[in-house]
Amino acid sequence: MAMTGVLRPGFVQLRVLDIEEAVAHYCDRIGLHEVSRGSDGRVYLKAYDEFDHHSIVLREADSAGMDYMGFKVACDEDLDSFAKRVKALGPDVTEVPAGEQPGVGRRVSFVAPTGHRFDLYADMEIAENGPMTVNPDLWREVPKGMAAIRFDHCLLYGDDIDGALKIFTEALDFKMAECVKDPDGVLIAIFLTCSTKAHDIAIIRHEEKGKFHHCSFLLEDWNAIGHAADIITRYDISRDIGPTRHGLTRGQTIYFFDPSGNRNEVFAGGYAYYPDNPLRVWKTDEVGKGIFYYEREIPESFMGVVT
Ligand SMILES: [Fe+2]
Repeated sequence: MAMTGVLRPGFVQLRVLDIEEAVAHYCDRIGLHEVSRGSDGRVYLKAYDEFDHHSIVLREADSAGMDYMGFKVACDEDLDSFAKRVKALGPDVTEVPAGEQPGVGRRVSFVAPTGHRFDLYADMEIAENGPMTVNPDLWREVPKGMAAIRFDHCLLYGDDIDGALKIFTEALDFKMAECVKDPDGVLIAIFLTCSTKAHDIAIIRHEEKGKFHHCSFLLEDWNAIGHAADIITRYDISRDIGPTRHGLTRGQTIYFFDPSGNRNEVFAGGYAYYPDNPLRVWKTDEVGKGIFYYEREIPESFMGVVT
């Protein structure tokens, strides 16, 4: 098996202002399923084509944003070796006991130089209503709403993206598939992958630490993006931009906000990345086309609004 180490983004825990409004948005509109509720009020959701117990965790709080993002690794021994490698580059690594989230094994946790917390885990229970494995139909039930296939990636905003790049590439074996550089060669945005996806996480340079730009869900195709746009208008969901396409990663996309102001993306497509691919570089004078290929400019809201 070629894929070892960090396999994929597994979950993200989001802060929301009103839990019931948030559950309705993520389930009825994006099309996730509610899996369970914790005694502490957290709600666990998954997309229809995900095997694991959950991928989205909602926590009611006074401010919106991201608590942390979890990456699944191939085996338990990876947790100790990655913890050691992260520690060697500076960040402190703590352990989160098994069961802190339902069905999830022990996690190792660190805060990246951009102020974002990341957890690694090797074990998560398989969901009861996950994808079929014998004579597998496309889905158990017709997907609802935008019919999100899976949680795919996050885009985060933070200050020390060079420091984060070092952790992800040198300690966790991610590759930088694509980036944006200013005329002095300073990195403005980094698109990192641990797989054959164009990105599993992206980070944009920003003066504040620990900011959340969006979490993204995969849809089937360009028609599904159009259907998502229909849902956004029908239910008066706050739309940021799209349907359009990215130059960076080449995904077809639409952005909108959950009721708490956290930005969501649904997207389709994008290129396949292999570890021997050369780095793709966008220069800041063409970054409008890089971010939004058709508009060739970036709306103020897209750059400025983060939670
Ligand atoms: Fe995205």
